[in-house]
Amino acid sequence: MSAPTRPAGARLDLELSPDRYTAVAEALHRIAGIRLGPGKRALVVSRLGPRVRATGARSLDAYVDETLRGGDDTELSHFVDVLTTNKSAFFREPAHFDHLRDSVFPRLERTARPLRFWSAGCAAGEEPYTLAMVARDALSAPALARTRILATDISHRILAAAREARYGATQRDGVPPAQLARHFDVTPAADGTRRVNEPTRDLVRFAWLNLIGDWPMRGTFDVILCRNVMIYFDRPTQERLVARLGSLLVAGGFLYVGHAESLTGVPHTLEPVIPSVYRKPGADV
Ligand SMILES: C[S@@+](CC[C@H](N)C(=O)[O-])C[C@H]1O[C@@H](n2cnc3c(N)ncnc32)[C@H](O)[C@@H]1O
Repeated sequence: MSAPTRPAGARLDLELSPDRYTAVAEALHRIAGIRLGPGKRALVVSRLGPRVRATGARSLDAYVDETLRGGDDTELSHFVDVLTTNKSAFFREPAHFDHLRDSVFPRLERTARPLRFWSAGCAAGEEPYTLAMVARDALSAPALARTRILATDISHRILAAAREARYGATQRDGVPPAQLARHFDVTPAADGTRRVNEPTRDLVRFAWLNLIGDWPMRGTFDVILCRNVMIYFDRPTQERLVARLGSLLVAGGFLYVGHAESLTGVPHTLEPVIPSVYRKPGADV
């Protein structure tokens, strides 16, 4: 970043002027579809503060000007990265995983084709690894051999953590003891983290993807989880996203959204199955 750097010893100016706050909100919306609600100024300041320090920018306003002026894609990517909210948990919204195990996997067992799952907005991997655990526990060996889970996110930082697959005690809280024993390495690292074990990790492939940008993948999915992502988007963005997700489902495929983001008011052609679970009409799955 080529912003005028802060003289050594100068006090760090972390004031964010109203017009820079507006510029941040507009950029985040344009780049990632994320809508910064009112009253997020303190959050933005606390998240961008470390980038001001890391880049040596003279002030937060100067950092915003320089980053949004363009020319430094790496810093713009850090900017988006730190402004995303990556809260997640293993077995979050457990009714979804019960539904997968009891109603979806038995149908998938009866097919002979590759089984494709997509965790769209996967945060630090809790969601796709939960899916992998449930799949390994419920699917037969032949069905598992044709199972692939794609997990994508816009945050490079969080994807690096997801690939690493090491979780501390608090993060492992939601994992029932039986799954902890079956799907995590037995021995914790020196820092107390435990790693998701290799067979479970191997089911998941992580990739960077912006949900409001181009999607390079080919083919369709049997199941898409896009949970607790759309709450950050405005209605037109949600509508476009649901239509695109639907177009990537096989006929009879399932879309899971977060419990707080039912598709009420979003026009779509999917059939409601249970709260926050939708199915594409047709009978393939
Ligand atoms: C709150 S987390 C939800 C994680 C997980 N799906 C769950 O329900 O626990 C939302 C994730 O969506 C990602 N995200 C936000 N906007 C995105 C976009 N435009 N494209 C891809 N991922 C995005 C964020 O980086 C974050 O990791």
